[in-house]
Amino acid sequence: MYITRKLPESIVKKIENVCDVRMWAEKDKPVPRDVLLREIEEVDGLYCLLTEEIDQEALSYTKNLKVIANMAVGYNNIDVVEATKKGIIVTNTPGVLSETTADLTFALLMATARRIVEADVYLRNGEWESWSPMQLTGQDIYGATLGVIGMGRIGKALIKRAKGFDMNVQYYNRSRKPDIEKEYKITYSNLDTLLKESDFVCILIPYSSEVHHLIGKRELSIMKDSAILINTARGGIVDENALFHALKSKIIWGAGLDVFEEEPVSLENPLLSLSNVVTLPHIGSASKATRLKMAHLATENLIDTLRDKPAITPVNELE
Ligand code: GLV
Repeated sequence: MYITRKLPESIVKKIENVCDVRMWAEKDKPVPRDVLLREIEEVDGLYCLLTEEIDQEALSYTKNLKVIANMAVGYNNIDVVEATKKGIIVTNTPGVLSETTADLTFALLMATARRIVEADVYLRNGEWESWSPMQLTGQDIYGATLGVIGMGRIGKALIKRAKGFDMNVQYYNRSRKPDIEKEYKITYSNLDTLLKESDFVCILIPYSSEVHHLIGKRELSIMKDSAILINTARGGIVDENALFHALKSKIIWGAGLDVFEEEPVSLENPLLSLSNVVTLPHIGSASKATRLKMAHLATENLIDTLRDKPAITPVNELE
């Protein structure tokens, strides 16, 4: 089987106990496309990350592939329909990262609202001359209205945090979640109402072509001018060009972005020139413990399938 990125020793050992392993060994660099296409041809198992595009072309190279274990909850990097047609099991890593990703989402919300990054730079640049009444003032978090787009596991974990800050929560989702509404006293809204009424809008839906640029010029234009947009899902859900113009012309107040339309983000990206944006390099699930849990779950999915046992978290039937 083939692993597309250097993994911790303990994980590699676990896989080596079961099968022959080949691995792309450069620590923080993705496997080049031509190497991936060559490697994918013979192997029966593929352990990959969200940085690998396992599209129709890549799948056309496979001869023996039985399983693609993606070390991520999102799997929009894989053409699951095509893989399913070829009888390949595709798995993801749901559940184990929900709380950690909700932590990061809330941290980004707070950092953006209270201008944490800007304030840190201000101090280090020697600009802090005195305590001053309206210096670096931001937006209140406690008691504000949070709009959550998507109410899966991470959305649910996020509202627990929001409730600790006495926030009013509304959500928009493909399907209603009456149990969560009742348990956490949150309300269901249509997308426009949520956008109009929320002080914070957090995007937590999986990416697919149906939600490409779900948040564009029109959607941003109906948000409050004091509102903050937080995206820890996938970059393609937001039209970045429209977001840049909305932030620059103060149609909305700020944005916290852990994900981008193109990753790694180019330093030429105009969003990076704005002080009302906090940016992160796609680290939603990046706690040591959680990344190890994700690696173990991906490994178990891979090994189980190679041993003709049912995978723990397959996604094929969801398509
Ligand atoms: C990260 O973005 C993931 O999908 O796990």
